Amino acid sequence: MTQPLNDKQRVAHEAVNMIHDGMVVGLGTGSTANYFINELARRCVEGLKIKTVASSIISSNRAQHMGLEIVSMEHLSHIDVYVDGADEVSPSMALLKGRGSDLVREKLLANASNQFLVLVDNSKLVERIGQNYPIPIEVAPFSWELVLASLIKMGGKGGLRPNGDGLAVTSHGSLVLDMTFDPSIDSQSLNDMLNSVPGVVEHGIFEQLATAILIGENEQVTQIT
Ligand code: A5P
Repeated sequence: MTQPLNDKQRVAHEAVNMIHDGMVVGLGTGSTANYFINELARRCVEGLKIKTVASSIISSNRAQHMGLEIVSMEHLSHIDVYVDGADEVSPSMALLKGRGSDLVREKLLANASNQFLVLVDNSKLVERIGQNYPIPIEVAPFSWELVLASLIKMGGKGGLRPNGDGLAVTSHGSLVLDMTFDPSIDSQSLNDMLNSVPGVVEHGIFEQLATAILIGENEQVTQIT
């Protein structure tokens, strides 16, 4: 018997309907992106002809395992569409991302793509960025203490992200500071503020990058553009 689709699967399948022959497709990271990769691979078996570029080693491995053609990021100057999940989505379509460890690649793909489709269920919708999670901020290992001091001067609170007995390390060797800020600071101001701190490699606020949000709720998909 066929299982009914959950909300994340439903948005993932809807996103695959937006993929056409000849496209270069960026693959996100996380459970929703995995549903997208699975369905994309199934459509490719049926004849869809696309190339993919992955935002993480784990997504690259999955895509390879599923038989998708993968191009490495350093050989691409253009991406048609990037499809990924998010941790939070605000009413102005600002996103919080980066619970995984490939924030730099995720933002590079989001910025370089003609379209950035964000796939979420309604649990990701928030009134303000930072409502449910701290802001992940990637820092070069030698700079974390100085960056933390700068962020504290700006009113931030937080510290290095732990991982078991050690520290979380991103795929290219950065450490991650998980920080909270005054809730009255809007995401655009926070984005600009974090962009201006020397030593920050990247951060998890994706401001004005999403071109469409596909929201799965009660067996329906709503699209916001
Ligand atoms: C990965 O770094 C994150 O930005 C993910 O996109 C995010 O955590 C979404 O994950 P789920 O699709 O598993 O909810």
